[in-house]
Amino acid sequence: MNTSQAISTFIEFFRDRGHRLITGASLIPAPGDPVLFTTSGMHPLTPFLEGRPHPLGNRLTGVQRCLRTTDLDEVGDYSHLTLFEMLGSWSLGDYSGPQSLRFGYELVRDGFGIPPGLLHATVFGGDEQTGPDLQSQQVWTELGVPVELTAGENWWSGPTGLCGTDSELFVWTGEPPPRGTPGSDPRWVELWNHVSLRYQQLPDGTRRPLRQRSVDTGMGLERLLMVLQQQSSVFDTDLFRPWVSATAELWPAGERESRVIVDHLRSGVVITGDGVRPANTGRGYVLRRLLRRALTTLWRDDPGRSLADLPDPLVGGTLTHFQQSPGSSEVRGVLLAEEQKFRDLLTRGRRVLSRVRLSTPVTEQELRDLHQTHGLPPELVSELLAEQG
Ligand code: ALA
Repeated sequence: MNTSQAISTFIEFFRDRGHRLITGASLIPAPGDPVLFTTSGMHPLTPFLEGRPHPLGNRLTGVQRCLRTTDLDEVGDYSHLTLFEMLGSWSLGDYSGPQSLRFGYELVRDGFGIPPGLLHATVFGGDEQTGPDLQSQQVWTELGVPVELTAGENWWSGPTGLCGTDSELFVWTGEPPPRGTPGSDPRWVELWNHVSLRYQQLPDGTRRPLRQRSVDTGMGLERLLMVLQQQSSVFDTDLFRPWVSATAELWPAGERESRVIVDHLRSGVVITGDGVRPANTGRGYVLRRLLRRALTTLWRDDPGRSLADLPDPLVGGTLTHFQQSPGSSEVRGVLLAEEQKFRDLLTRGRRVLSRVRLSTPVTEQELRDLHQTHGLPPELVSELLAEQG
């Protein structure tokens, strides 16, 4: 099953069960939201999950692009990405968690054809404030799916304080038969998270029950494709093929480095496509950081490499996939201007470092002086010093 088949299988399943399709939002949250980027499928739906009626009704489904930079150093392994897509279904005060789990099981088994014997679930085992999620445990048991009760893992807290217990469905990716549990064997890969949003977390840590109880589910598209296409990494799925093959041809590198380049540049294109421009603060800084990390990785082997070589159809195809309006030449222009800025900064940095005397190791005060006097960010100085050996 390729990317578009997987997406339509998901959407059609929920449409057949009364859910209306919502258009994915931009990576930029609504004005007033303190969070820099959309981090999960439910994020743009926050007001409706808090009780405001949604114009399309109380059963929704859709695909939402998300950006998370908390695990930046993990990017390069088989599954971590900064930009990812979340397939989602929502019940806004309509059906509850057990129904959502039953839908999930049916779609995974019949729609995606995953053998039920390869599934495992986890549910919330309880804490000081909230009891164990016995309802979800019972549903999985009735469906014949083994369940593991966990402590901290099955409590989901969203970017805006909405929270509740969750139940996660895992699929076995090792040689059959499956062994152990999701908590004890990493070959269980998390596929789909079903959250019962019932509380608002207050600043003092206490939980206020919500008047409307909702269900929020999210399944990472890339992980799903990895499982369906029986690949060992998300980068080996059809979704990433254009990026992986174009960059491998242009800039051969080790596996980890190639993945970092693909992930960061693809994210850079999409963030730019949503209207962000490189800057020293906020969203622009996240974009700048991703592009500069990608360039640093690219230039480690050959400083002559340039983003000017990124094929136009690759950038254009990505913008089309995410239904973004800027043309590829506009986005490429932003990327190239940032590349030039970074090149100039590195040249200046090398010149400055060849003239100044620094302690070994360099002190915090010296790093601050270099930043204030010469505009050289500390992480750049560290990189240049490492380069000098
Ligand atoms: N909002 C839930 C998640 O991100 C579904 O896992």
